[in-house]
Amino acid sequence: MTADVIDGKAFSESLKQDVAKQVAILKEKYNLIPGLAVVLVGENPASQIYVRNKNKSTLAAGMKSFEHRLTPDVSEAELVGLVHKLNDDPAVHGILVQLPLPKHINEAAVIDAISPAKDVDGFHVINSGLLATGGKGMVPCTPLGCIMMLKNRLGNMSGLDAVVVGRSNIVGKPMAQLLLNENCTVTIAHSRTRNLSGVVKRADIVIAAVGVPELVKGDWIKDGAIVIDVGINRIEEEDGKTKLVGDVEYAAAARHAAAITPVPGGVGPMTIALLLKNTVTAACRQTNVAEPEI
Ligand code: GUN
Repeated sequence: MTADVIDGKAFSESLKQDVAKQVAILKEKYNLIPGLAVVLVGENPASQIYVRNKNKSTLAAGMKSFEHRLTPDVSEAELVGLVHKLNDDPAVHGILVQLPLPKHINEAAVIDAISPAKDVDGFHVINSGLLATGGKGMVPCTPLGCIMMLKNRLGNMSGLDAVVVGRSNIVGKPMAQLLLNENCTVTIAHSRTRNLSGVVKRADIVIAAVGVPELVKGDWIKDGAIVIDVGINRIEEEDGKTKLVGDVEYAAAARHAAAITPVPGGVGPMTIALLLKNTVTAACRQTNVAEPEI
């Protein structure tokens, strides 16, 4: 068996076009322009690239982008003060504070300060609580992108065995919750799981989000399973060159899976598309406007 490759780049481009259409409708019908504020503290090179890409995509979708760059020595109080100002600004419908933050700042305190209605990352405890209890909150972008790719491929997932490898608040836990909402039988595995290979081997759906290069071996994948690889790890090869690999041994897994996401070009591009989508959703909810169907 050779797996179909799930093209996250193409999927995300089409989603971004849909979001741009929604924005055009909101502008024309309600004079509403969704606005996303991104706050970057310090000069982490990866974060700078993410923020630049977010800004570009936000503008390309026809939305307003507000960028706030703060020096790495900014105090937690100053950062929280900026978040409060953005909470009160009616032109800002979504707020994203780029993580990681410098060590002297308590990330949880900053996320807590974001108004749950504007928390387009879906990291606020109110939003994780709403996801866990079946409410209507903001859902984290990466797991939301994964579930969209799965639904697109599988349609109904009811009763399928899904294994999530990784238990982070940002991906693993919300991912498990979303799969549960689709009536999957969900197992969350992690670095302390005994017999990880046995757990993965019974899965119809494997989500790898553990941050360990190629931890999930190809021969653990059940024939016909769907594999979603959230990992992005930079590794050094024998010739000294670096390359990006996921949390799954891709080539070997592709011999067993029915479909698999590549790294790069799989889950990665979906995250920004869902961030834009969440900003549109947040803008509609805050202004009591029905979200345009597309
Ligand atoms: N850093 C890397 N990815 C993300 C993300 O999706 N949201 C935030 N806030 N920070 C990040």
